[in-house]
Amino acid sequence: MALVETPSRDEAEARLGAYLDTQKRKGLLRFLTCGSVDDGKSTLIGRLLYDTKLIFEDQLADLENASRKFGTTGEDIDLALLVDGLEAERQQGITIDVAYRFFATPARKFIVADTPGHEQYTRNMATGASTADLAVVLVDARKGILAQTRRHSFIASLLGIRHVVLAINKIDLIDFDQPRYEAIVAEYRTFADTLGFASIVPIPLSARYGDNVSLRSENMPWYEGSTLIEHLEQVVVDDSRVDAPLRFPIQYVNRPNLDFRGFAGTVAAGRVAVGDLVRVAKSGKQSRVREVLSPRGSVSGAGAGEAVTLLLEDEIELSRGNMLVAPDRPPEVADQFTADIVWMDEHPLLPGRSYILRTENDQTPATVSELKYRVNIGNFAHEAASSLSMNEIGRCNVSLQTPIAFDAYADNRATGAFILIDRTTNRTIAAGMIVHGLRRATNIHWQALDVDRGARAALKNQHARVLWFTGMSGSGKSTIANLLERKLYSEGKHTYILDGDNVRHGLNRDLGFTDADRVENIRRVAEVAKLMADAGLIVIVSFISPFRSERRAAREMMRPGEFVEVFVDTPLEECVRRDPKGLYARALKGEIPNFTGISSPYEAPEAPEIHLETVGRTPEEMTEAVERWLREYRPSDLEGNDGD
Ligand code: ADX
Repeated sequence: MALVETPSRDEAEARLGAYLDTQKRKGLLRFLTCGSVDDGKSTLIGRLLYDTKLIFEDQLADLENASRKFGTTGEDIDLALLVDGLEAERQQGITIDVAYRFFATPARKFIVADTPGHEQYTRNMATGASTADLAVVLVDARKGILAQTRRHSFIASLLGIRHVVLAINKIDLIDFDQPRYEAIVAEYRTFADTLGFASIVPIPLSARYGDNVSLRSENMPWYEGSTLIEHLEQVVVDDSRVDAPLRFPIQYVNRPNLDFRGFAGTVAAGRVAVGDLVRVAKSGKQSRVREVLSPRGSVSGAGAGEAVTLLLEDEIELSRGNMLVAPDRPPEVADQFTADIVWMDEHPLLPGRSYILRTENDQTPATVSELKYRVNIGNFAHEAASSLSMNEIGRCNVSLQTPIAFDAYADNRATGAFILIDRTTNRTIAAGMIVHGLRRATNIHWQALDVDRGARAALKNQHARVLWFTGMSGSGKSTIANLLERKLYSEGKHTYILDGDNVRHGLNRDLGFTDADRVENIRRVAEVAKLMADAGLIVIVSFISPFRSERRAAREMMRPGEFVEVFVDTPLEECVRRDPKGLYARALKGEIPNFTGISSPYEAPEAPEIHLETVGRTPEEMTEAVERWLREYRPSDLEGNDGD
């Protein structure tokens, strides 16, 4: 048990390690540039690279050729071409992805995230900004502060950037006009004051001609501040990751043979050293670090940003998605939290829809359970909203299928961030910053009752089922559902019908027919169906349920094999012809908005368990088809079907 009392040598080594970490990072500044299209970001970065003499002679010759071919600056070298590396980008005249550029002066090294300025900007900014210490906000002196300037500054503050350089560019084009410059600075300060930046440093400059970039401009004797390079060299940014408690997200478990079990990952915060007591975030189990392996071999410890493999003294359960953390300051573990999100997809956010939430090393299905407000970028006011569109920012509660380990983003930018992914398109649709966990949910434990679902269903001499009828209005869902229930009842089965029209009179009377309301409509009825299946019933759900996403979410809520999707497939023309409630006639006249099949989509199932093509068949025939299917397949035969 010698390791319990920490030997002073280890202590000294740990302190030395921490010191070296600081030294290593002191010399490095990460920043990003942001601004609207044409504010001159690429030109500015090109200028920084050029001025810091990182351009070798041959690259320079290349550049002169390219300038002649594509340049927009006549005979001058077009500095933007230095960073717009790809041929395709050159020809379009826009930058299309985040690229990291490195340059250095004797005082400091720099990494700049170059983010594009067109439509997709917000998305790329969120990617580039999460590790940046400082933002250079570019403003075109002729245009002044734009909506984009406000949005980007707001996102920068949301992403935890504490320092801003307000680079008022193209100052030459307003004849180095001091009053105009001062007016822009004043306007910026008025709104940025509420964003809580630690420093805002305005600099008038011309990226094209180099004024106040690395050399003091002779054209602006009125300006007494630093040049951009001087400021970037001197600005003091504290790296909170170094003093933060240990966070080591497990990327993978390396187990080449039975004697070796290493946990590989990158230290997200704090330090880890041989002999340290560490805790498994999700289980609370503890062990000690036996060895720290770096690419150079065995080392005494590692700090934030270093990729290592850890070996522990005990065999404990630990896999990807979990974290090794400081035992005295563990992260939160919860299945609900409040977060700020930046929406990045052209399809708006739908509260209640199931998305994939991904953190640095973990992922789980998740829904936005409540949108608390949307931020108005004009005045940063909080507005009530039921959805977020592309580039909008809001605060919401997020509910997860399984708990994750996390910190508040304000405490740790690595373990407090996540993205949301669309389950159908696989696209990243939002970036999120966790504000705090919601303990509410973690305190409610599902009561493990002695009488379980199997016992309840067995008493009724049946298997619990959720028969999910989907199809357009007038397709025949209710007719078949009713016939089926009568047949099942006559056989002594215990059933219940959940019908859209009926449930919308009670439980869901607050919902209409917008996409968001339909998502919530289906979410609620799926929850009810789940409870009823748990009671051992054969539940017949008869809802249009037009979206694949929600039908899939309903399927995932049920036991394997329990969910039976029944597609009542009647062509739209036939539904319109039947029109049992006269609704199609009104919808076609434009009297009912968002009518399924007319002005709102119906996404047909791709692989339903039962596919009923109704044209030319009687309701009795179709009911018989469903019954036959139910007799043939028991739930246990069906595990693993993932339907549409
Ligand atoms: S769902 O799309 O949210 O699943 P649900 O099955 O609950 O719809 O309700 C559909 C019923 O509401 C239809 O059968 C019809 O009687 C009625 N209805 C009223 N307005 C609409 C509309 N805009 N679109 C579809 N159905 C509507």
